[in-house]
Formats: sequence, C-alpha cells, structure tokens
Amino acid sequence: MPTVFITGASRGLGLEFAKHYAADGWQVVATCRNPGQASDLQVLAAQNPSVSVENMDVSDHEAVDRLAAKMAGQTIDVLINNAGIASNDFSAQMLGGFDFDAWANLLRTNTFGPMKVSEAFMENVAKSSDGKISAVSSTVGSLSQMNDYPVYPYATSKAALNKAMRLMAQQLRDRNIAVICLCPGHAKTDMGLSADGASVEVDDAVSGMRKQIDDLSMDTSGSFKRYNGETIAW
Ligand SMILES: NC(=O)c1ccc[n+]([C@@H]2O[C@H](COP(=O)([O-])OP(=O)(O)OC[C@H]3O[C@@H](n4cnc5c(N)ncnc54)[C@H](OP(=O)(O)O)[C@@H]3O)[C@@H](O)[C@H]2O)c1
Repeated sequence: MPTVFITGASRGLGLEFAKHYAADGWQVVATCRNPGQASDLQVLAAQNPSVSVENMDVSDHEAVDRLAAKMAGQTIDVLINNAGIASNDFSAQMLGGFDFDAWANLLRTNTFGPMKVSEAFMENVAKSSDGKISAVSSTVGSLSQMNDYPVYPYATSKAALNKAMRLMAQQLRDRNIAVICLCPGHAKTDMGLSADGASVEVDDAVSGMRKQIDDLSMDTSGSFKRYNGETIAW
C-alpha cells in the first residue's frame, strides 16, 4: 500500500487525515511534537498496525533531520505539510501593535516548517512513481483577497508558504513530484473554532482536500485549491 507522511497529526485536520488514509489501508506515518500527549492518535495507532507515530516538531530542524535519517530509503507517496499555528491575540497581529517575536514564531512554524520537512523528505517522495507534496495553507495567504481581519503574521506566513510551494513545484517538476497548496475552509478544529464563523466539518474539509491530492497530477502541479475544488487566486 502507498505511504502518506503527515505533520501535526495529534489533532484537528492532521489527525483526521491520518484516520482517512488509515481507513483506506494506507501506511500512515503520523508525526507530532508530543506523542505522549496525542491520545487520540495513539488510539488510532493501537487500532491500526499500518499507523506509526513519530516524534517531530517541524520547527526543530535537528528533529526533522533525525527522522529523515531514520526513514532514509523509504518511499513516501504523499507528504502532507499540515502542522501550523495561529494566534488569538489579534491586536498583536495588527498594525500599531505588532509583536515581532510572535510573528517570527509563526513564520518558523508555518513557512519554514513545511519547507524544512519538504527538503528533508524530498528524496523519499522522489522514490514514489506518483510522488506528491502538499501544504495546508489558507485563503488568507492569497495576495488577491482582502481579509476580514488583517492578521499580518498568520496571513504572511501562509503567503510566503504559497510562494515557496510554487517555487518548489517548478523545481521538482524534473523529479516528477507534484506540489499543491490547499485551503480547508474555515474548519471546526481547535484553531478554526478559536475564531468566529467556523462552518466546515473536519471530515468534509479532509475528504475534500484528499480529493484534491488524489486528483493532483504533474499537469496541475503548482495549484492552490480550496477543499471543495475551487481554484484560489494567488
Ligand atoms: N481550521 C481552519 O479553519 C484552518 C483554516 C485554514 C488553514 N488551516 C491550517 O490547517 C492546518 C491544521 O490546522 P488545524 O485547524 O487542524 O489546527 P489545530 O487543531 O490547532 O491543530 C494544529 C496541529 O498542528 C500541530 N503543530 C503546531 N505546531 C507544530 C510544530 N511546531 N510541530 C509539529 N506540529 C505542530 C499541533 O500539534 P500540538 O497538538 O502538539 O499542538 C496540531 O496537531 C494548519 O496549518 C492551519 O494553519 C486551518
């Protein structure tokens, strides 16, 4: 069976991705930064021998390299850069109140994290005949859309991620690796529910994003899609 590698699988969308792929019989490498506290993920792994739980904080580059060394030579068919953070402190994210340390932290996790993970596991994905790298981004990272709340740090962390993924799509074309940015909609996870208006069920967000990953080909590599298949303007 093919192998999916997921970051931030302890809860929310990452955990749901792990459940969906496991239910379809995939080998699931579910990574999270505190396996001992990821009780729902541990239950899933106990029920499914195809699910392995690995310790990896995406902002800890040594930890990423350690897991990459452990997995050297193993094929990854789908890599899902899902781990991410947001902040509820809106005033610290808006002009006049910027907290630049918090902003840097968002960039470290939401932008550098997926890039470090993609770089570290690129050779594993290249071993697949149909290798794909995806990132759970957000419509708020689109340069062409105005945001209801101008949360600069989170929005720029996703905008930078989008650009980096586009560049990676271009660079990995020769390696036959397809790349996609996804938006889950405003989904009812811990993160989504921390702001008003979460309306998308977690199951629907993940089913939809999985379909976009399934449908991804070298012809559509470098695209930015909402979970329901709509193309999002960069
Ligand atoms: N929910 C939405 O409406 C929405 C909308 C647009 C985009 N997104 C994006 O979707 C992705 C998943 O978010 P979610 O809604 O599922 O949020 P969530 O419920 O808050 O879950 C976030 C996940 O990321 C993990 N994580 C955070 N920092 C990490 C790090 N440094 N290393 C490894 N794992 C880390 C968390 O692990 P811990 O359990 O250890 O904290 C958790 O598993 C994020 O990239 C988010 O930006 C979400």
